[in-house]
Amino acid sequence: MKRTLTLLLALGGLAAVALVVAPLTATAVPAPSDTVRSVSMDDDDEEESPPCHRTEFETELVKKACAEGGQFAAKDAMKRFVREAKTKLALGEVDCRTCHDVLAPEYSLKADGMKLFNEWKTKLEAAK
Ligand code: HEC
Repeated sequence: MKRTLTLLLALGGLAAVALVVAPLTATAVPAPSDTVRSVSMDDDDEEESPPCHRTEFETELVKKACAEGGQFAAKDAMKRFVREAKTKLALGEVDCRTCHDVLAPEYSLKADGMKLFNEWKTKLEAAK
């Protein structure tokens, strides 16, 4: 028991040292980390969406999003659709993998993925 206590105290001491040292080392080398951060932010801004993997669509939602903004837009549209379905329909725990067995970049559908999408869509329209 006493040994455990000593160990805990020692770990606490180490954590305290880490807390003091971390900000110090951070300020010691500001230039490189700042540069790296701003470069990667620029990259994000300019990153273009890849086109959608599908070339044929069964839904207007995804077809339109893909045409307008590629796969990123399709992803956003899907996220909104799933969020709306989750809030308005009593679906329990659902997520992207409820319908897709693989996510990026294929987003291939499970056997009942298309059927589920249509079911949710019909229910959402009825709920409006
Ligand atoms: C209710 C079933 C369902 C759920 C849940 C779902 N999807 Fe989809 N998703 C589909 C269907 C169906 C398609 C194909 C639409 C078509 O053919 O027009 C699709 C297509 C896509 C595509 C287009 C991919 C491409 O490049 O061809 C993306 C991206 C996508 N889904 C992302 C997501 C993400 C991210 C989530 C989770 C937030 C999600 N999906 C949840 C049914 C679903």
